[in-house]
Amino acid sequence: MPAPYAPARLLFGGDYNPEQWPREVWAEDVELMRRAHVDTVTIGVFSWALLEPREGEFDPGWLDDVVAMLDDAGIGFFLATPTASPPPWFTRAHPDAMPVRADGTRLTHGSRDTYAISAPAYREAARRVARYLADRYGAHPRLRGWHVHNEYGTIDHGPHAEAAFRRWLRARYETLATLNDAWTTSFWSQHYADWDEVVPPRTTQYLTNPAHGVDFARFCSDEMLAAFAEQKAEIRAAGSTAPVTTNFMLPTWNHLEQWSWSDRLDVVSVDHYLDTTGPDGEAHVAYASDLTRSWAGGPWLLMEQSASGIRVGQRHFAKASDRMIRHSLGYVARGSQGALFFQWRASAGGSETWHSGMVPHAGPDTEQFDGIVALGELLDRIDEVARPPAAGPVVEAEVAVLWDANGWWVLQTPHLPHDGLDYATEVRATHRALWRAGVPVDFVRPGADAGRYRLLFVPSLMAVDDATVSWLTAYVRAGGHLVVGRFTGVADEHQRVVTGGYPGRLRDLLGIRVTEILPLAQDESLALSDGSDADQWSERVRLRGAEPLATYTDGDLAGMPAVTRHRSGDGSATYVSTRLAQHSLDRFVAGLLDAHGVRAVVPEAVGTGVEAVRRRAAGGDYLFLLHHGDRPVRVTGPGHDLVTDTPTDAGIVLPTGGVAVVREGPGATWSVTPDHSSTPEVS
Ligand code: GLA
Repeated sequence: MPAPYAPARLLFGGDYNPEQWPREVWAEDVELMRRAHVDTVTIGVFSWALLEPREGEFDPGWLDDVVAMLDDAGIGFFLATPTASPPPWFTRAHPDAMPVRADGTRLTHGSRDTYAISAPAYREAARRVARYLADRYGAHPRLRGWHVHNEYGTIDHGPHAEAAFRRWLRARYETLATLNDAWTTSFWSQHYADWDEVVPPRTTQYLTNPAHGVDFARFCSDEMLAAFAEQKAEIRAAGSTAPVTTNFMLPTWNHLEQWSWSDRLDVVSVDHYLDTTGPDGEAHVAYASDLTRSWAGGPWLLMEQSASGIRVGQRHFAKASDRMIRHSLGYVARGSQGALFFQWRASAGGSETWHSGMVPHAGPDTEQFDGIVALGELLDRIDEVARPPAAGPVVEAEVAVLWDANGWWVLQTPHLPHDGLDYATEVRATHRALWRAGVPVDFVRPGADAGRYRLLFVPSLMAVDDATVSWLTAYVRAGGHLVVGRFTGVADEHQRVVTGGYPGRLRDLLGIRVTEILPLAQDESLALSDGSDADQWSERVRLRGAEPLATYTDGDLAGMPAVTRHRSGDGSATYVSTRLAQHSLDRFVAGLLDAHGVRAVVPEAVGTGVEAVRRRAAGGDYLFLLHHGDRPVRVTGPGHDLVTDTPTDAGIVLPTGGVAVVREGPGATWSVTPDHSSTPEVS
């Protein structure tokens, strides 16, 4: 087990791109950074063209100056390798190293992320620039870590990918016969007689082969990981011992298998941007944080978030400063070792001109910058939370949700029974219900040690391998309570259906046999006997040892089981054969938590708008209270609020939008009541 990521303090700052500004602005930058208590910036992310203006010729003068300026100001830095954005000369010299879309379109420079990950010229150029930076700056005392690349995720279908994909397939399957079998190439005359016939899944006449597509996604993740590992090796070969990370993008798209990547990172970091303007943003922050902490197996780092405006849908929406602060503490509460942003100063030109910065276009005399300064001061006050506990998790959870990138890719297969079944949506709905119930959540990988979790949720994991079936079975036999969503386990890892009734591989464990999947039309919904609302999906379920917890009440399936439970020793396996509406899922999940004795962090906070998260650190337990609701509340319990430097034993008032971080006293029990002191009664 590697040591938990433990920087000397909570990091605060963001991407810093001084190359976009004249030098006189740099001086103001440093002055403002000090005012805001910024201690960490990420430099060089998109600086390849300046750093290496011609192939093999480096011009580090400006970067030397930036590093010296930060050093003088006492500000640490993550140094990025700039390989996400190859310069124009690279395209001209190596046109074959540009990515090719599935439809054969070869991309060119002019944006970013224009590289074919398998192209030897790209890999060599990436290693060279990484090595150059590591030789020059790798021992700098202010270097906090290496930020390799930026959000790996460009998919290439060109000739270099073709060759590398074949190598990957040969290693995985060894013989063409095995590959033909795994991919069911007997269908539509796809049988391969020569390895050279196998190509990436490019645009073709009609539906592509599902197993082919998912293997290509697996290959792309592995290939990008190999490219990352090469850069890390250069950094280490140069003698730099600073922690190495690359920033994951919290998936709205997903090209990485995060568990295997996390094993290779010294710090797991993530970029998180809200995908909604509404109140679900708070649940999204928790989801991002729980996922990243779980990938990391401990403390992690929020590498980017937006200070304010960000594009959601067709417009930019502004995030108020109090919300930005609550979110920042939401990440920290769940294990982030700081709050970093994209980017320090909003760009005056270029493709992301309207993306907010810590310093907005209007400058420091703004509400936005005041909010940034307030956050910097606040992080200073709670800095002691950054010291990891001597043992045990930073957030203690009794409930886990399975996360499997393969599950995501499998459900992207076209022509499944319903196009609306989406992996991330399912996982998120489950997490949202748990978040609303106020309980801490871990995510786990297939095969993880899950014994300490009372409940394990597996949302819609269509394809599972033998090892996963054995793992889930062992979890239940050992007394665990498994909750499985529809369309889980119907197929093996090559998406081949296990015949004889769904969910083939989990029939015995779930004690059911499904004879037919009956998806619903867009406007159809269903009612269940327990009062739940459902839609999208239904199944004809026969009991083979399980008991029904709820039945369908409408249509052909009226009276048939919809939700079942199969007891096995002290454990149980519950199956939900339809899509519960979120309010029904919330109620269902709350009932399960109750039944299995899983309590909210602060039960009295549930439903008040106050999010309560307990982070464990060397100095004890810290209760983060983030008030997203619209009425002030009084929170009372033993401890000391670090934000206001006030004892909490006699109660503190949390205004709407307010936060508290309480170093808890012994035997902490908390009450949350409406506060009338600060709101005059309206008659
Ligand atoms: C990503 C990138 C940044 C920036 C932001 C905002 O997370 O890493 O460079 O583009 O998105 O769009």
